[in-house]
Amino acid sequence: MPRAYHRPCTDIAEFQRLLKHSDRVLALCGAGLSAASGLPTFRGAGGLWRNHQATSLATPEAFKKDPALVWLFYAWRRHMALQAKPNAGHYALAELAKHNKDFMCLTQNVDGLSQRAGHSPDMLRMLHGNIFDVKCFDKECDYIEPNNLSDPLCPALAPASERYPADQTMPLLDPTKPTPKIKREDLPHCPTCKAAGKTSLLRPGIVWFGEALDSDMLKEVDAWVAKPRGIDIMLVIGTAAAVYPAAGYTDAARKKGARIAVINPDRSAQKGLTSRDFYFEADAAEILPKLFEGIIGKPEIPGQAA
Ligand code: APR
Repeated sequence: MPRAYHRPCTDIAEFQRLLKHSDRVLALCGAGLSAASGLPTFRGAGGLWRNHQATSLATPEAFKKDPALVWLFYAWRRHMALQAKPNAGHYALAELAKHNKDFMCLTQNVDGLSQRAGHSPDMLRMLHGNIFDVKCFDKECDYIEPNNLSDPLCPALAPASERYPADQTMPLLDPTKPTPKIKREDLPHCPTCKAAGKTSLLRPGIVWFGEALDSDMLKEVDAWVAKPRGIDIMLVIGTAAAVYPAAGYTDAARKKGARIAVINPDRSAQKGLTSRDFYFEADAAEILPKLFEGIIGKPEIPGQAA
């Protein structure tokens, strides 16, 4: 039986008071932050793409085995991200970054929605890269096209960018329909390698399972965490916290004195929290503006009535 005094605090006013008196705030964001923008999460309901676990397509081995399938998956996600709009949660975090003295936001999301909400790049680290960066699959080659927003990326990937009426399922999402056949030569190729007589493919510029995160970025984040002043609050927003090193920042922040605030509609996300911590069982897009209201006021959200 869990003991009552271990339960995290759920009082919004108490959190707002703490935030007002906090100097150093760390945030870790996951796919749940973008759920209200209509982008699917990885795990749990909706975490499947055709008959594949979304995560099983996120490996160099999957790309080597079937680059067309993996590219279709990422072309579809690029298209979805371009169609999506940042939600009130992205805007609230971007605004907090403007107001808080020492704020660091680590996002596992590759969808670019935090940037589009105006989040200061100085206070945002994209742990898992950017889905719009396109780079060479050959590790020896350093070719990269940053933030390529073309949709479709190439004619062969057009099926991933097709629009269907709301009452029809996109064939690309329907596992009973065959996957469009795409020849390797029609996938995007690296121009640098081509000039050297090689035929390397381009790939999305994100971090796949089994790959290392950018070491300079990690050093920078570790240095921020290690500052002697400690950390007042760590926000854990819309993440299953199942993937490392990202998930490890909660313990690191706790060791620096942080009180943890988990924002997640799935109650299992409050596991490990104590009575010093906070838990908000809510949609990030709804609760973040409320939690930060004392600092950010009511920021204007493009396309939304005040
Ligand atoms: N608001 C807040 N949280 C939400 C919402 C919402 N509206 N909707 C869902 N969630 C929560 C879910 O309960 C779940 O705990 O968001 C979490 C999403 O978890 P995952 O799908 O596992 O996503 P994430 O934690 O970001 O995954 C980490 O795994 O595959 C890799 O690289 C990929 O960056 C990703 C990493």
